[in-house]
Amino acid sequence: MTLKVLLLNGSANKDGNTFRALSEIARRLEKNGVEAEIMQLGNKPVRGCIACGQCQAKQLGRCAFDDDVCNRIVDKLKEADALIVGSPVYYGQPNGAVMAVLQRAFFSGAKVQNKPAAAVAVCRRGGASATYQTMNMMFEMMNMPVVTSQYWNIAYGRTPGEVIQDTEGMQTMRTLADNMAWLLKKIHADGNPGYPEREERQSMNFIR
Ligand SMILES: Cc1cc2nc3c(=O)[nH]c(=O)nc-3n(C[C@H](O)[C@H](O)[C@H](O)COP(=O)(O)O)c2cc1C
Repeated sequence: MTLKVLLLNGSANKDGNTFRALSEIARRLEKNGVEAEIMQLGNKPVRGCIACGQCQAKQLGRCAFDDDVCNRIVDKLKEADALIVGSPVYYGQPNGAVMAVLQRAFFSGAKVQNKPAAAVAVCRRGGASATYQTMNMMFEMMNMPVVTSQYWNIAYGRTPGEVIQDTEGMQTMRTLADNMAWLLKKIHADGNPGYPEREERQSMNFIR
């Protein structure tokens, strides 16, 4: 069985620092016998969720708006066993575009439950921890086991390519890849992951 990790480059720079960090992870995953595909968010406009509810009302399993990269991610996630999202830090937060598409992808029913996930934050100087946590918040409410490393998955660099000089950051990426490969192999070892049965989900508000 081939195990596959989808790595989403949440930077519009297709060959920038986030891509380099993800490439380090991808190389190490492949070395561990795990397939790795880096997908680019790209530099075309993306929508934010407008809470139209069409995805859920019609049980589309994808966003009702099909005019940007969102549903391509949804399609890729069907085939992937795990997800790693990398983002540059913008004002101490992930790039708005990557959050916009992931909020739509996850809300509309992308197949992410039980799939291990990891966030990677890349910055010049500050805001990486908040960015990292913000991305992990999504995984943590989707029953996605969050994969960690020897340090938070953070690497430093400003101009494209500079990040490879952050040797500790690059090692953190390789350790993340080893941990991801290890967990994936354990989960799928005997062909029966034995995922927990989920209760019917409760959703309530506090206005009565
Ligand atoms: C709009 C914008 C906001 C940024 N905000 C921050 C920031 O808050 N903290 C920081 O350390 N770097 C910040 N940066 C720098 C980028 O995070 C950094 O250059 C990163 O390596 C870019 O990754 P990329 O090459 O994958 O696009 C910002 C860059 C841009 C374009």
